[in-house]
Amino acid sequence: SSEFNNSKLIPLFSAEQIQNRIQEMGAEITRDYAGREPLLVGVLKGACVFISDLMRAIDLPLAVDFMAISSYGSQMRTSGEVRIIKDLDTPVEGRDILVVEDIVDTGLTLSYLLASLHARGARSVKLAALLDKWERRERPVQIDYLGFKIPDAFVVGYGLDYAERYRNLPYIAVLKED
Ligand code: PRP
Ligand code: MN
Ligand code: MG
Repeated sequence: SSEFNNSKLIPLFSAEQIQNRIQEMGAEITRDYAGREPLLVGVLKGACVFISDLMRAIDLPLAVDFMAISSYGSQMRTSGEVRIIKDLDTPVEGRDILVVEDIVDTGLTLSYLLASLHARGARSVKLAALLDKWERRERPVQIDYLGFKIPDAFVVGYGLDYAERYRNLPYIAVLKED
């Protein structure tokens, strides 16, 4: 389509850089959670690619579940609204929860989600995020395991979309629209 052809992708992190960083994050998580069995909570849809690689970099017994929380529509702009689209299937009470996100931007999604999981009686709640677009933060969010800090640019690939497109790119790129 024309909008596809008029967009430019400027590579930011290669597939190899991403995989190397995830191996380091997985090793750190494995050390920190030794003797425990964390529940990884992936935030759909953006985190689907990251969680599938991160969970395989963690050498521990673990469980995986998913939530869908939307703060964006199909546009680049945030609506400021946070909605639960799909809740967990797993009870979180007493569990060590590791939320897995592709990106923390304004922090609206994660500040809401982390507070909600604490309120449900989780034993611990930590966050692994691949990308931190820190300049845009509106709500404070503690990122316990971070892949990369990024500048305030619109990034796509490796799960991140623009209007649902580009999630399947194996690398992360800045999307420039003409
Ligand atoms: C994106 C991204 C994070 C959230 C971060 O998800 O995947 O979940 O926004 O933004 P925030 O810090 O400003 O809340 P999106 O709502 O686009 O849904 P998606 O994961 O299905 O693409
Ligand atoms: Mn998301
Ligand atoms: Mg999105």
